Amino acid sequence: MFQNRRTILLFICSIVFVQALYYIVTLQVKHNQTRLINFPSIISYEQGSDIEKIIVQDIKNVTYFNNTSISKESIRELKSSVDDLISINFTKPDPIIYNSLPICNFSISNNDSSIYKVTINKDINPFNIIEKHHGFDLHIGGHWFPKTCQTEQRLAIIVCYRNREPHLKLFLDNIHPFLKQQQLDYTIFIVNQHGYEQFNRAMLFNVGVIEALKLYSFNCFIFHDVDLLPEDLRNVYKCGEKPRHMSVAVDKFHYRLLYSTLFGGVTAFSVSDFMGANGYPTIYWGWGGEDDDMYLRVVKKLKKSITRYPVSIARYKMIRTLNHTSGKPNPDRYTILYSKYNYDHDGLNTTNYKLHNIVFNKLYILINVTLKEESFEQIRMRLNIKKRETKKPIRKKKV
Ligand SMILES: *[C@@H]1O[C@H](CO)[C@@H](O)[C@H](O)[C@H]1NC(C)=O
Ligand SMILES: *[C@@H]1O[C@H](CO)[C@@H](O)[C@H](O)[C@H]1NC(C)=O
Ligand SMILES: *[C@@H]1O[C@H](CO)[C@@H](O)[C@H](O)[C@H]1NC(C)=O
Ligand SMILES: *[C@@H]1O[C@H](CO)[C@@H](O)[C@H](O)[C@H]1NC(C)=O
Ligand SMILES: *[C@@H]1O[C@H](CO)[C@@H](O)[C@H](O)[C@H]1NC(C)=O
Ligand SMILES: *[C@@H]1O[C@H](CO)[C@@H](O)[C@H](O)[C@H]1NC(C)=O
Ligand SMILES: *[C@@H]1O[C@H](CO)[C@@H](O)[C@H](O)[C@H]1NC(C)=O
Ligand SMILES: *[C@@H]1O[C@H](CO)[C@@H](O)[C@H](O)[C@H]1NC(C)=O
Ligand SMILES: *[C@@H]1O[C@H](CO)[C@@H](O)[C@H](O)[C@H]1NC(C)=O
Repeated sequence: MFQNRRTILLFICSIVFVQALYYIVTLQVKHNQTRLINFPSIISYEQGSDIEKIIVQDIKNVTYFNNTSISKESIRELKSSVDDLISINFTKPDPIIYNSLPICNFSISNNDSSIYKVTINKDINPFNIIEKHHGFDLHIGGHWFPKTCQTEQRLAIIVCYRNREPHLKLFLDNIHPFLKQQQLDYTIFIVNQHGYEQFNRAMLFNVGVIEALKLYSFNCFIFHDVDLLPEDLRNVYKCGEKPRHMSVAVDKFHYRLLYSTLFGGVTAFSVSDFMGANGYPTIYWGWGGEDDDMYLRVVKKLKKSITRYPVSIARYKMIRTLNHTSGKPNPDRYTILYSKYNYDHDGLNTTNYKLHNIVFNKLYILINVTLKEESFEQIRMRLNIKKRETKKPIRKKKV
């Protein structure tokens, strides 16, 4: 009893405190517009909820893309933890100086592949050592841009994540030097799926895009598995006219493309292509299906083809020496995939999540969310997916 009352009291106090703090910060920002940028890390969102109360809009300097539902997210509740309140500047290049610089031109000038071969660091170092390696010239949040030239793109690397810290360490230790050498303006986002819901790789990518666009006008997104490390510098992390499948040749698969429509692992999308496809699907819980769905979105909704760098360049090492258990394969993935459901009815604008916190680490931005899981029945009802007729005969045969 006593415990309960204390908890409730604490809870009320912290809500009052957070609101007071929020009020003060808002006032301060209004007073001194360029000084403080406050992130909505104390706020939970639920997209598509009917409570319309947008309170973060004015306190952030944000480029929203007006043609999506991103600016329409509504806020449901304030979180009770003050620790999560982060005030920070997302460092942007000074436009006046930056515009006077020459355009960066990392280019491939030589056929000799040995020059571009990346030496992969396979030692799992603690975060503070990785920071010593690569953090000295990073802006907070794993953001870097060249100082001597201006980049044409602003790249967000979106990594889906759950409980794979050794892989994350290897990823960060290797990806930072790789991207710096390519002279890119890039930021690393790690989107963590908290909770016991089944893993939803594709929905985490959507979350990454939605949250990233609140910080900076990214115009190129690379969606990345945490266990893939690029092996060749000519595999340039840029977006082009078409969505690109990056992880063409993976060591685990003997550097061969498994099938021609493969679109998993690492993919690159310009912001307009991503919006045009209505983002990734949200309806694949557990392992498999979402990458093939995205391929179909590109072909059928966006009406484009995908592109790839040559097999000799788009090479990756898959980290598999560490304990890794894949999620449970989703038994319904083919039913959804081949159902011809309407891509307008699921994707970026049906991404439902609760944002716990955003943490600006030196090496990356952590976005920590819980996703709202739908059962297959709910998905079927919502998207009008029919049960597959082919299932019945197969079952009859087996019996
Ligand atoms: C917002 O960003 C733009 C360009 O990045 C800048 O010109 C403007 O002063 C900023 N406004 C605030 C309130 O920080
Ligand atoms: C988006 O809309 C807001 C107002 O709703 C406007 O101020 C802003 O300029 C628009 N941005 C673009 C890129 O059109
Ligand atoms: C929305 O997109 C359409 C086509 O892509 C474009 O013509 C229009 O200007 C955009 N509107 C805004 C407000 O950005
Ligand atoms: C925020 O940015 C402004 C201008 O770019 C700078 O003067 C200030 O020191 C920055 N604040 C922090 C906390 O980094
Ligand atoms: C870009 O490449 C051209 C020649 O290809 C070179 O003259 C120029 O210095 C390069 N710019 C930078 C910023 O490296
Ligand atoms: C690259 O290799 C091709 C043949 O494989 C050769 O014709 C070409 O001259 C080489 N280019 C350079 C820059 O070495
Ligand atoms: C792998 O898992 C086993 C048992 O769960 C554990 O003892 C071992 O330390 C793990 N290895 C690594 C590299 O995490
Ligand atoms: C999502 O966006 C598409 C356009 O890409 C639109 O046609 C559709 O109605 C939207 N769906 C929802 C549920 O808002
Ligand atoms: C994500 O948020 C939950 C709930 O606040 C918290 O328990 C968990 O530790 C967070 N995860 C990470 C990786 O920060």
